[in-house]
Amino acid sequence: MSDIDQRRRTLCTQLLGGLAGIALGGPAWARPSVDEAAKVFRLDGAGVTYAFGVNQDGQLQALYWGSALAPEDKLPAPVPVPENSSNEMPVNLTPFEYPGFGGGLTVEPALKVTFPDGVRDLVLRHVDHRVDGERIVIRLKDVSRAVHVTLTYAMDAATGILARSAVVENRTASWIQVDQLAAAAINLPYSDDYRVSYLTGRWAGEFALQTRPIAPGSIVIETRKGVTSHQANPWIAISRGATEEEAGPVWFGALGWSGSWRIHVDMDALGGLRTTAGYNPFDFAYRLKPGEKLASPVFHAGYSGEGFGGASRVFHRYQREKILPGAPTPRLRPVLYNSWEATLFAVDEAGQTALAEKAASIGVERFVMDDGWFGSRSSDKAGLGDWVVNRKKFPNGLQPLIRRVRDLGMEFGLWVEPEMVNPDSDLYRAHPDWVIHFPGRPRSEARTQLVLNLARKDVYEHLLTMLDRLLKEHDIAFLKWDHNRAWSEPGWPEVAPAEQQRLYVAYVDNLYKLLGELRRRHPKVEIESCASGGGRVDLGIMALTEQVWTSDNTDPFDRLLIQDGFTRAYTPAIMMAWVTDAPNFVNRRVTSLEYRFLSAMQGGLGIGANLNHWKDEDFAKARQLVAEYKTIRKTVQQGKLYRLVSPQGGSRRSATLSVAQDGGQAVLFAFLHSSGLREAPPRIQLRGLDPNKTYALRAIAGKAAAQTPKRASGAYWMGHGLAVDMAGDFQAAAFVLEA
Ligand code: DGJ
Repeated sequence: MSDIDQRRRTLCTQLLGGLAGIALGGPAWARPSVDEAAKVFRLDGAGVTYAFGVNQDGQLQALYWGSALAPEDKLPAPVPVPENSSNEMPVNLTPFEYPGFGGGLTVEPALKVTFPDGVRDLVLRHVDHRVDGERIVIRLKDVSRAVHVTLTYAMDAATGILARSAVVENRTASWIQVDQLAAAAINLPYSDDYRVSYLTGRWAGEFALQTRPIAPGSIVIETRKGVTSHQANPWIAISRGATEEEAGPVWFGALGWSGSWRIHVDMDALGGLRTTAGYNPFDFAYRLKPGEKLASPVFHAGYSGEGFGGASRVFHRYQREKILPGAPTPRLRPVLYNSWEATLFAVDEAGQTALAEKAASIGVERFVMDDGWFGSRSSDKAGLGDWVVNRKKFPNGLQPLIRRVRDLGMEFGLWVEPEMVNPDSDLYRAHPDWVIHFPGRPRSEARTQLVLNLARKDVYEHLLTMLDRLLKEHDIAFLKWDHNRAWSEPGWPEVAPAEQQRLYVAYVDNLYKLLGELRRRHPKVEIESCASGGGRVDLGIMALTEQVWTSDNTDPFDRLLIQDGFTRAYTPAIMMAWVTDAPNFVNRRVTSLEYRFLSAMQGGLGIGANLNHWKDEDFAKARQLVAEYKTIRKTVQQGKLYRLVSPQGGSRRSATLSVAQDGGQAVLFAFLHSSGLREAPPRIQLRGLDPNKTYALRAIAGKAAAQTPKRASGAYWMGHGLAVDMAGDFQAAAFVLEA
């Protein structure tokens, strides 16, 4: 299979039938419409219209993106923006769907290439178009050279979310070098009150929400680290000054790519707004031989008129129904136990068995042994890469532990970090050339480890064989797939210098291929994407992994903020959260077990505490809350999420409500950081209920204020609201409403 076929297949896997060549699968993509006379294209779905067209110069130009237009509304054919001054060429003011670097373009290009003769001018014109089932496929070509670009557009009928991607093809007689390739450029018209929101972070501090006004100039959100990163996540939302949590326009998008990426938001001299999302052009160069192609990742973009809450609800739905493994009905997350915080590297058969027995007693469904079980691994200094069971810790292999876990009624899960190696390992001693490096240059270590070059065929084959054997020889239901460092010295000396920078794409392609192949061979095994916590969370990896490890920060109060940020972009259906020990290892904060549980119950519940230190009453509390969680998890994981009171901005209170898709259940979580000035508890007005249905209220933890009715209409809970009786520090409560 050629590189491009593989790349196509990867994209197809990711997009359920893909935008790059195969019929779209899954339910209900919207049918596009084309006005052939005006050359105007429209996609309409779920209250959203996206329209663009071809102007008289053959340029592809944006027309409209926002709330649905009437079907009979005729969009006028696009016209290029006239010259405004000799200092601002029309090409920089016209809202192109896919600008090439050329013809005087000084705003952000979607595609930039270099030809062997030094020409770096690329002017793309419409060649033809077709409606291919549910996709619009547009072909563009440079005005004189045989560089072809195929753009694909598909809109999800249920959410109005548009998936866009591009493929560049070299049909010239010699090589061309792709210096920059985006999935899409998306335009919004002039306004002086746009704001952009995005997620930044660091280890143990992921998904921090940033919001700032957009003024003329550029805002760049990116990573150059080879992996999605903690530092920024490939999601943005653009809102207007008056947009609120539950009202006002929000345009949003996320890139399905787990390598170096960039989202560039650019307001031009006249106030037009363009967002370009794709591979990070930093250090990027992808040489195409004659006949070769390169596909972009997919950019998934949506619109909601119902504020940030509405935007995240439609995006969550899209992820559940179109992206996640098992879509449109992904499996619910089992309650898991993970050994990491309890034992760190000191895992052994007796210790893990004791933890497993205690975990089973509180209702855990999946027992996961973390780092330390293999090679000479007793710290992060050695053993990574040697995926053989450590016989000192497990004299009889893993089988006795796995059997015991299975007998206790739980699934068994195992930690791996396949893409990495410690220099102090048999693998590295045998294959020092297998890591990403520049020959003769120092190899920078982080956590005493180096990154294996997964773009290499032999590394790929080795990892596939090793993981396949591990899964064949053991009854493993789940892999926690970790990735604990950023890239450095991104060299690939085995290929020609001009080919080396293909690494940025080829590595991630092979990662997707490896995950895809393992899933094909072991369809019952589930995978968690972890990268020192939430360093690899994006729509690319999400298509191949059932859940993500949100953050190594397990402090339940910090987690409220992290989870609030996370759910702006991604569904709680994949967001894992553990109950760990107090004081928490991150910040020494002490909170009650109940508080820790309620914070973690907002996502996929896990327990990571050292159960050997628990008292009888802790087990009793955990048993009760795990049992409660199982009655609400479908609503929490896959329901409609309302961030009723956000912890953003230092709020001392926060509250979320999850409403089941069928409306039959709603779950309210409320948290108080600290009481102040003897204030009375404010009433929390619920959302998303049926005003005409009666809902019975039941407390999972904490209590409602005196005189709160036991039953009332949806209208009452939404209009009058519910006051929670909470006072003190780090208080939490949770309620269920059943219709
Ligand atoms: C980083 C992960 O985020 C942790 O949960 C744990 O698995 C460690 N790696 C193990 O080394």
